Amino acid sequence: MKAVFIVKNSTPEKSFQIKETDQPKVANHEVGIKVEAFGLNYADVMARLGIYPDAPPLPAIVGYEVVGKIVEVGADVQNRKVGDRVVAMTRFGGYAEFAKTDARATAIIPENMNAGKATALATQYGTAYFAAEEMTRMQEGDHVLIQAAAGGVGTALVQLAKWRKCTIFGTAGSQKKIDYLKSQGVHYPINYREQDFVKEVKKVVGDRGLDLVFDSIGGNYIKKGFGLLGAGGRIIGYGAAQMTNANFFKKIKIGLGFGFYSPIQLLSNSKSIIGVNMLRIADHRPDTIERCLKNVVALTEQGILNPVVGAEFKMNEIAKAHAFLQGRQSTGKVVVYVK
Ligand SMILES: NC(=O)c1ccc[n+]([C@@H]2O[C@H](COP(=O)([O-])OP(=O)(O)OC[C@H]3O[C@@H](n4cnc5c(N)ncnc54)[C@H](OP(=O)(O)O)[C@@H]3O)[C@@H](O)[C@H]2O)c1
Repeated sequence: MKAVFIVKNSTPEKSFQIKETDQPKVANHEVGIKVEAFGLNYADVMARLGIYPDAPPLPAIVGYEVVGKIVEVGADVQNRKVGDRVVAMTRFGGYAEFAKTDARATAIIPENMNAGKATALATQYGTAYFAAEEMTRMQEGDHVLIQAAAGGVGTALVQLAKWRKCTIFGTAGSQKKIDYLKSQGVHYPINYREQDFVKEVKKVVGDRGLDLVFDSIGGNYIKKGFGLLGAGGRIIGYGAAQMTNANFFKKIKIGLGFGFYSPIQLLSNSKSIIGVNMLRIADHRPDTIERCLKNVVALTEQGILNPVVGAEFKMNEIAKAHAFLQGRQSTGKVVVYVK
């Protein structure tokens, strides 16, 4: 099969090679999938840059999700059969013509579901669903701030917050993305490269504060977000995009920027800090991944969620796709078609 390898930690142009390699062997609890399309995630950019601790050693095939047909089923798999069309979360290995994964990390999708939209449902919608519905139980009337709201996870969080009838503040880094956020129904879009998001939020909520902050930027964004919470408020950290271009000293500064918190402070002010890493959840509770995936597919079939494909590429355009995502140009999902 053909697969995209990261061969060195470098720029998009220098990092990738497309090579022939053996098809992955399917274990008893796994399924093998002939891939139609795979999705890009920001963690792939970090893996390419060599700043993602969970990434496999080089040369590596990364990729957290694929859409395709099951072509092989492990001996212990009961719930899937050859021919099922699925969206699947992969533990790397997604950038390829064939991929394998735990059968519990798959959800059956209709034949007519757009492959690009479906790729978004795995990592980005799965993460958003777990964070918003399971870790924080977002409620009607909540005032919610979503950082980098125009991105993949951001778009999913916006759609979940709309469904739950929340008041939504969403940040993004360009006017084009602000227009996109308006079209997605964000009540207060904020260009955080031009405006101070803390001031903009306070103008609206005053002393009431926020109920929820979803943060994928890290560092002092966590500290500022925490400062915006009212009683009962929760901040959910699930990324550290600030680390992308940071040298050693900047990384220390970003690390310290998160702030220091004591359980007594959290208890007396009734505020919570929540961390989410879906890889740890996949290791510890694969059934959680199965449930989140099943629920986002169902919500999409009901028309409640509607993933947005922001850009489409072919496999041999992988460098272009990475440059696009890293360059903060994308809205919604960046998808790569294998053929
Ligand atoms: N913990 C988990 O399990 C988990 C799972 C999935 C994703 N994530 C994290 O969630 C975040 C979103 O992932 P995604 O795949 O949906 O990506 P994405 O949001 O589509 O793309 C990343 C966005 O981050 C924003 N950003 C802010 N500061 C940046 C910087 N210094 N450099 C580059 N971009 C910056 C940019 O939007 P603006 O231009 O609007 O600022 C950019 O478009 C990432 O941090 C990712 O690592 C975590």
